[in-house]
Amino acid sequence: MDVFRIEGPVKLSGSVTVNGSKNASLPIMAAAILAPGKSVLKSAPDLSDITVCGQLLEQLGGKVTRQNNGVLLIDSTTIDNPVGDYEIVRKMRASICILGPLLARCGRATVSMPGGCAIGYRPVDIHLRGLRELGAKIRLDNGYIVAEAPNGLRGSDIFLGGSFGSTVLGTANVLMAATLAKGRTVIESAACEPEVADLATCLNQMGAKITGIGSPRLTIKGVSQLKPFDYEVIPDRIEAGTFMIAAAIAKSRLELKNCRLEDLMAVVDKLREIGVTVESTHSGCVVARSGPVKPADITTQPFPGFPTDLQAQFMALLSLAEGNSIVIEKIFPDRFMHVAELARMAANLRKEGPAVIVSGVKKLIAAPVMASDLRASAALVLAGLAAEGTTIINRVYHIDRGYEKIEQRLNPLGAKIIRQDATGV
Ligand code: EPZ
Repeated sequence: MDVFRIEGPVKLSGSVTVNGSKNASLPIMAAAILAPGKSVLKSAPDLSDITVCGQLLEQLGGKVTRQNNGVLLIDSTTIDNPVGDYEIVRKMRASICILGPLLARCGRATVSMPGGCAIGYRPVDIHLRGLRELGAKIRLDNGYIVAEAPNGLRGSDIFLGGSFGSTVLGTANVLMAATLAKGRTVIESAACEPEVADLATCLNQMGAKITGIGSPRLTIKGVSQLKPFDYEVIPDRIEAGTFMIAAAIAKSRLELKNCRLEDLMAVVDKLREIGVTVESTHSGCVVARSGPVKPADITTQPFPGFPTDLQAQFMALLSLAEGNSIVIEKIFPDRFMHVAELARMAANLRKEGPAVIVSGVKKLIAAPVMASDLRASAALVLAGLAAEGTTIINRVYHIDRGYEKIEQRLNPLGAKIIRQDATGV
C-alpha cells in the first residue's frame, strides 16, 4: 500500500493540463452497452475507477482496451451476461449506472446493490423509482437489484428529485434507459451537472433524441436503436478545481489548460471572494494569490452551486483564512472524514451536524494522516503543500481513484511529493 511523503511549505509555478473527466467517462462507458459494436472514448483518464468500470463491462461480456493516447476502445458486441457482480460493484458505486443500459438492451439486469462508502449512506431508491416509471419490474434478491422489462420499456413523465435535490447517476441511469424506450419520456428535476450534459451529448451522437440538455427538464424521444460512439469526454472540473485550490493554498500562480471555467463558476466566485485572482485564458485560466486568505461561508449544492466534490479541498484552504468560515454540506451530510485529519495538521475545526466552523490558523503543521475518500485525500495533499514539515498520507489508493498520478502532476510545478511503499517509511 503506497504512502505519500510531502515536504512543505512549497511555492508552485507553471502550467498544468487538466485531464478528461472521471465522472463523465464512467456513465459514458456504460452507455456503450446501449449500442452493440465498437465505441471509442477519447481523453478517458487513466484511473483505477476507469479500470474497474472496464472490468465490469468485460464481466458482462464486452471487451475494453486502453491505448497509449488516452483512448479507450469498448467493444460491446458480445455483451450477453447482464449481471453486475458484488465483487466489482462494491469497489465502485458508479457501477450502478449499468442498470439502465442493460435493462434497455437485454430486457433484464441483475446488479448488486452498492454498499456503504466513506462519504455516508448513498441510497439508489430514486434510480429504481425512475426505472419503474419506465415500466421495469424491480425487486431485491439476496443483495441484488433484479430488474425486468421483457416487453421493453415505455416512455413516461418522471419526477427524479429527492430530499437532497437531483441525482447525478440516477439521472444518467434513467436517461440511458429512456433513449431506447417506446415513446416520449420527460425527466423533471434532472441533474444539471456538466457530466450529465456530456452523457446526453454523447447519446445524441449515438442517435438518441434528447432535448433540454443541461436543464432540469430532459425530454427524450425513444428510438429503436443506437450506434456506437466516437466521443471525447469533457475536462474534469473537479481536478481543475483542485489545482486552482492548490495555487491558492500555496500562495502561488498557476496556469490551467483544458479547463472550462463555465463549469466552475461557483468555485471561481468563492476563490475571488477570499482574495484569489482567477483570470480566463483561451484554453483555461490563471489562478494566483499574493495576499491573505479571507474567510468565507460555503454551502454545497447541486450544479451550478458549489460542488460537494470540492468541499474538502476548500476547507483545507479556508483553514488558513484570517477569520472564521462556515462550510455546510447539503449533498452528503456525513462527508466530513477529512475534518479529523486536517485537525491533526493543526487546522482549527468544529463540526456541528452537517456544518463545520473553520477558525483560521496562521499555519498548518505536517503530520501523519489517513486518506479516506478520494476528495478528502486530495484535501490532505493540498494541506501538505502548505504545512510546515513532512506530511505522510497513508492509503494513497483513495487518491489514485480520482487523480491520475497526482504527484507527477504537482512535482513539476514545485511540489515535493514522494510516493513510497508503506514499508519504506
Ligand atoms: C455523483 O454521485 C458523483 N459520482 C459523486 O462524485 C458526486 O459527489 C455526486 O454525484 C454529487 O455531485 C459519480 O459521478 C461517479 P447523487 P451520485 O445521486 O450520482 C441522494 C467523487 O468524489 N440520493 O447525485 O451517486 C444522495 O444520497 C464522487 O468523484 C438519494 O437519496 O450522487 C445524495 O444525498 C463521490 N437516492 C444526493 O441524492 C438516490 O437514489 C445526491 O447524490 C440517489 C441519490
